[in-house]
Amino acid sequence: MGERTADYSLADFFFSDSSDPLVPPAEYVAWRKATAWATSLYEPRLRGPAGPRVRVERGGAVHSAINLSSYNYMAFAEDPQVIRAAQEALDRYGTGACGSPLLSGKTDLHARLEERLSAFMQRPATMLFNSGFGGAMGCLAGLLRKGDVAILDAKCHLCLIAGPNLARAKSVFFDHNDPKSLDEALAATAGKRRIVVVEGIYSMDGDMADLPALLEVAEKHGVGVMIDEAHSILACGAHGRGVTEHFGVEDRVALVFATFSKGFASVGGFVSGNADTIDYLRYYSHPYGFSCALPPSVVAGLLTALELATRDDERRNRLRENTAYFRKKLLDLGLNLGQSTTHVVPIVIGSDRQMLYELCHEMQEKGLFLAPVDYPSVPEDQLRYRAAVTAAHTKRDLDEAVAIIEDTIVRRLFPARAKAAQPAQPASTGTTIPTTTTTTTTTTTTIPTTAPLPGTAVAAGWRGKVDTLRQLSGAVADEVTGKARQVLGRIWKQ
Ligand SMILES: Cc1ncc(COP(=O)(O)O)c(C=O)c1O
Repeated sequence: MGERTADYSLADFFFSDSSDPLVPPAEYVAWRKATAWATSLYEPRLRGPAGPRVRVERGGAVHSAINLSSYNYMAFAEDPQVIRAAQEALDRYGTGACGSPLLSGKTDLHARLEERLSAFMQRPATMLFNSGFGGAMGCLAGLLRKGDVAILDAKCHLCLIAGPNLARAKSVFFDHNDPKSLDEALAATAGKRRIVVVEGIYSMDGDMADLPALLEVAEKHGVGVMIDEAHSILACGAHGRGVTEHFGVEDRVALVFATFSKGFASVGGFVSGNADTIDYLRYYSHPYGFSCALPPSVVAGLLTALELATRDDERRNRLRENTAYFRKKLLDLGLNLGQSTTHVVPIVIGSDRQMLYELCHEMQEKGLFLAPVDYPSVPEDQLRYRAAVTAAHTKRDLDEAVAIIEDTIVRRLFPARAKAAQPAQPASTGTTIPTTTTTTTTTTTTIPTTAPLPGTAVAAGWRGKVDTLRQLSGAVADEVTGKARQVLGRIWKQ
């Protein structure tokens, strides 16, 4: 077992030896306290819209930063027309829907948005959800039953994994974007009721589903496909209908789900498909029928965003240009962007969790808001930052962001190159981060960049148990722990 607190992650505390489920594992509580400086990067408090520049609280003060962490892909977060539409609906319809859509929560605005989305998606029917996560989960839970099988791409978002679990259906994962692995999964589950589930753009990697190849396999087995276009709706395809449109395969995909939290810069989600399936889901997808409808003001904003995004290609083109511009600059710096081909741009730095958080603090100090993505959201050896390029960024925003990335990530990953390029600097002993700041005074703490994170004396946790188990019973334990880690690897995606 490693000595450093940085050797632990959320995966180590999933299983608890506390006898009371209401009491989290003591080791977790100690670990959280010990790593507070690192995890203070989570749940940052924004003091304004999630636009290309944000005002964000840090160390008790408010700082301005370039924002590469919000999914405001189509630049609607601060759009005056969207805001005005929402404000008008707030005046007219009040604060909330105050009921399930099935019983009392649906307004004419909800119905209009469903109709407009059906027309946009060129599918007979659409229903709205008040949550992207709940909607994706609810579609699968509404359609699958015990004994059925969901055949999921291994990189699917947690909400798509939660759906089959809720239905007590079986989940079988095929290797990411691998038609051969999909073929094997389908062959192994022949005779069952099945559905193949993929994402349009993968949320942690920024690559697209290889739909042409995967659809061929699914069709060979006669199994229908559901796609989650969360990160691709409005942004991809000639008209914004996502990756299915991008590949020209819309009529071969049975069910399209998408969220409103990304391209629409709002909240909720929708699913479009044939009329009978959507009608069935209204009654069997419980996150729909047993949960309050979206607030009318949100729906009004969504209607306007849809109208603006489909009126012309201006935003989509800006997003594509910005993405190409940013990607080239990062590739020129020698950074590892994984398989990304889209506006979701991971910057993979490897397995050094200590470095992940230190650099993140450094970037924030220099004015760049770029969130860390840690294991188990991504593999342990592929920790990363994930940049969300948007149509709202200017070239100046992106240039400044790249300069900060060069001055932090690149400098640390490629020290020799940084030294050759720059005049000698005094040796740095650490990173100074403000710990208690007000707008007038700043106290700072120096985090040594070479030493372990503070608070190394955290007890062994789950990983200690895994190690013991491994030593005890070799191959069997390997299989068990392998499975456990596979599960754990999926628990913290967002
Ligand atoms: C692929 C995918 N599906 C669904 C969701 C959940 O969406 P929401 O945040 O709108 O609940 C996300 C969230 O990031 C996602 O990446």
